[in-house]
Amino acid sequence: MDIHSHCDPEHVRVTHASLDLEIDHAKKEIRGAVVLSLDRRDHESPLILDAKGLAIESVTGSDGSVRLWQLGPEDKNIGSALTIELVWADTSVRLAYHTTSRSDALQWLDPDQTADHAAPFLFTQGESIFTRTWIPLQDSPGVRITYDARVRGPAGQTIVMSAEQAGQATDGAFRFRMDRPIPPYLIALACGRLEFRKISERCGVYAEPSVVDMAREEFADTEKMVQAAESLFGPYRWGRYDLIVLPPSFPFGGMENPCLTFATPTVLAGDRSLVSLVAHELAHSWSGNLVTNATWSDFWLNEGFTVYFEGRIMEKIYGAERARMEAQIELADLEREMKELAPRDQILHIDLKGRHPDDGFSGVPYVKGALLLQRIEEVFGRGRFDRFLRSYFDTHAFRSITTDQFVSYLRGELFAQDGALAAQIDLLEWLGRPGLPADAPRAESKALAEVDRQIERWKASKVPADLETRGWVTQQWLHFLEGVSGTLDAESMANLDDAFHFTKTGNSEVLDLWLRIAITHRYAAADARLEEFLMTVGRRKYLEPLYKELVKSDAGRARANAIYAKARPRYHALTTATIDEILNVEKK
Ligand code: BES
Ligand code: ZN
Repeated sequence: MDIHSHCDPEHVRVTHASLDLEIDHAKKEIRGAVVLSLDRRDHESPLILDAKGLAIESVTGSDGSVRLWQLGPEDKNIGSALTIELVWADTSVRLAYHTTSRSDALQWLDPDQTADHAAPFLFTQGESIFTRTWIPLQDSPGVRITYDARVRGPAGQTIVMSAEQAGQATDGAFRFRMDRPIPPYLIALACGRLEFRKISERCGVYAEPSVVDMAREEFADTEKMVQAAESLFGPYRWGRYDLIVLPPSFPFGGMENPCLTFATPTVLAGDRSLVSLVAHELAHSWSGNLVTNATWSDFWLNEGFTVYFEGRIMEKIYGAERARMEAQIELADLEREMKELAPRDQILHIDLKGRHPDDGFSGVPYVKGALLLQRIEEVFGRGRFDRFLRSYFDTHAFRSITTDQFVSYLRGELFAQDGALAAQIDLLEWLGRPGLPADAPRAESKALAEVDRQIERWKASKVPADLETRGWVTQQWLHFLEGVSGTLDAESMANLDDAFHFTKTGNSEVLDLWLRIAITHRYAAADARLEEFLMTVGRRKYLEPLYKELVKSDAGRARANAIYAKARPRYHALTTATIDEILNVEKK
């Protein structure tokens, strides 16, 4: 059923992984063993695992004797099938292995790529299909497993995982236990010089020493967010909710690893203005981690529900106007992006045949997905829709489901209540056709309408002093910059910069947008900041538009190539995969 995995769980299914690993920064290698527990529905069938970029050393059965195994040909997207011949009595297998330089989940950072420049750092990124590059297992989101781990690293470093901490062994190894079944893409690890600060009894933040206090301040509302989420859609079922702030090359804004969200340091704006990212990753504790997309074609079930849920958390804590601002900006971004997307990539229930799951990545599963849920809410009313969602999470807790299963649950539980209302929503269009349906809800924020008036004023006079910007929040500045971007040139950008200091801003969202506009209009005063940003930050969502804008001119392309030659070794493999394509870099 999952075209992105070789495994055959109907016959032999992995149910638990027990890891015993050692982290070697000098060799940039994780080595050790994994014991996989098996549910064998058919004793004639071999065990089939996914593996990519792994060096398998030996495979043994339950009794400790060797088993025959074979690594199949490598598919460039999904890697190899690792087939293991079992004997009748095998209830588990043990694989000794090590990772290689082709283990794309891993990013090994030299000390100078960290905030404190004091020690090397390692983190993993499993979603979508990268766990198979550091652990041989059945790497399909439909095959949920529990896990435990024992991991040794260098003295003085802290190791954290997406699991409950189970203390340290006498040899210094860190121990972990995840006793709720999760999809393999949620197994995650980080290792570095880390400190912890408590936020509440169940929440806290890990970061490098020079970052951790600022992070604690930025994320101070986390416990409130967990409570808001629980009041909406039921209990938080994962014990602790901690965050870790990673070094700036982390390829995403956030990653919802259970018990421990991984976050980019670019979220630390100093004024909590970007914390919708925390609301988002927290929301995944329900949508995504509790109820999971069964295949990557169902990815919108993870992200669309999460963007919807994120908006509800933001509304509860920061008010309806803030939530409307964020929703209006998301919709504008989606509409801009959709113009550039092929029709097949505008479809929620996306066909990924022959493609890597990440090739379908865009705002569509996120924002179009959330708009569908908002539309259902609008038609059926919040009360009924909230009751539906609550039971959706309870009914499917710790399960992986497909779009079709969602549709039949929706039809049976909500649409069946009122045929006239149901008739107002064309699910086939929403899920199966490109573009944005005409009935997509359009958030309208008063605070952004006020910005629109100032945009008009700017267009009339181009004098920054004429603008009334007092008290503007980040989202208003973003809306303003998008709104005026087409009218700017290098001179008017300099005037705006004198008045509002965009090139120096510490807000990464504002900076990213400003730098993109600076490339378009050849505003040279931002050149140094652009280079510094590209050299340090690895967040794909920021880098992709910047490089795309650079290659639009010959001079820009030359600059992009020069910077990328230096920056590429500092980016995560997921980021280089994207940027290589923009710059036509030959794959290594
Ligand atoms: N789960 C995603 C990140 C992801 C998606 C990793 C697909 C690999 C493949 C995460 O929850 C996410 O969406 N992060 C966003 C931030 C969010 C606020 C929209 C990001 O990283 O920008
Ligand atoms: Zn997400």
